[in-house]
Amino acid sequence: MSLLSVSELQTHFIFHDIDNQLREACALNKVNLTLNRGEVLGIVGETGAGKSLTAQSICGLLRPPARIVGGSVKFDGRELLSLPDDELNAIRGADIAMVVQNPRSSLDPLTRIGEQLVRIHQTHTGGSLEISRQKAMEMMQAVGIPDPQGRFTAWPHELSGGMAQRVLIAMALMNSPKLLIADEPTTGLDVTVQAQILDLLRGLVSRFDMASMIITHDLGIVAHYCDEVAVMFAGEIIEQGKIRDVFLKPAHPYTQQLLAATPEQLHLGTKNQLGGPPPDLFNLPTGCLSQDRCPLATNACQNRPPVVKISSGHTARCHFAKPLKTSRGKKNG
Ligand SMILES: Nc1ncnc2c1ncn2[C@@H]1O[C@H](COP(=O)(O)OP(=O)(O)O)[C@@H](O)[C@H]1O
Ligand code: SF4
Ligand SMILES: [Mg+2]
Repeated sequence: MSLLSVSELQTHFIFHDIDNQLREACALNKVNLTLNRGEVLGIVGETGAGKSLTAQSICGLLRPPARIVGGSVKFDGRELLSLPDDELNAIRGADIAMVVQNPRSSLDPLTRIGEQLVRIHQTHTGGSLEISRQKAMEMMQAVGIPDPQGRFTAWPHELSGGMAQRVLIAMALMNSPKLLIADEPTTGLDVTVQAQILDLLRGLVSRFDMASMIITHDLGIVAHYCDEVAVMFAGEIIEQGKIRDVFLKPAHPYTQQLLAATPEQLHLGTKNQLGGPPPDLFNLPTGCLSQDRCPLATNACQNRPPVVKISSGHTARCHFAKPLKTSRGKKNG
């Protein structure tokens, strides 16, 4: 059984506009994902693709007007979507931990970092202060903070960006999570520090036998640090599979476009994205969501494309995606 199994997850924005008309946007469209311990899954896509909403939906961190309207999120054998708030809170921050971008804004500027680490442990375990202090020291060491004893009493403003992100990762590890979700964990850090932080995350996944989800718009990060990748577009996973399969044999035209684009293009605002803006989530086209931007679109694309199995574990949602043939000419699978 997978540690995390997300099926047909649907998240909508539902609200009344200024004319009191009910408005509904489909922000996540039947997302399916699985993740096992020891694995790192990359979620990739341009800005606005629904990557962060996927993480927030899994963790129960959505804020109105976003609401889950369908599907299932099973974690460690439990259905999270039907859990009462107190049980979900107990899982969040303990079994599932999240690291976000801009570490400085996630740290309390008025509390010394050691105390912030201890507080997280105390909130979830309620154990002795001494044990929490010991754990904080261990985790500072695990994330490569030099002189943990000395840094324990440091203020957040005394840390560099990279060091602040290490502290945030240490905070995420304080309650020994089974799943670590990192949402753009290195955006804004310089390239050398990015690599150090990602090496660290990858190493921690093996060391603590966790599963990890790395959300990024940077395909280079996915290629280097992940085992599997899910490519998102307009709230949908349009291709997923093992890194090697998706990167060497991308089956969806959008993945092919992504692989040909630069990280800068992917991170630009919606007006500048690949081949034009994404579809209006309030008024999605029938058929393939990529059709207005797809160079290969035909009339057939006005019908919703099926998820095609390209090879074992590799799927793509496109009318023209084809299963790979084996060397004997048989279809893979
Ligand atoms: N409160 C909201 N109301 C309406 N749309 C929203 C809201 N929050 C996010 N969105 C939209 O949902 C889509 C997905 O957002 P997000 O998951 O943050 O994208 P990503 O992390 O891939 O950049 C975007 O189009 C964004 O504009
Ligand atoms: S179904 Fe059509 S529009 Fe959609 S990705 Fe495939 S070719 Fe392009
Ligand atoms: Mg995001």
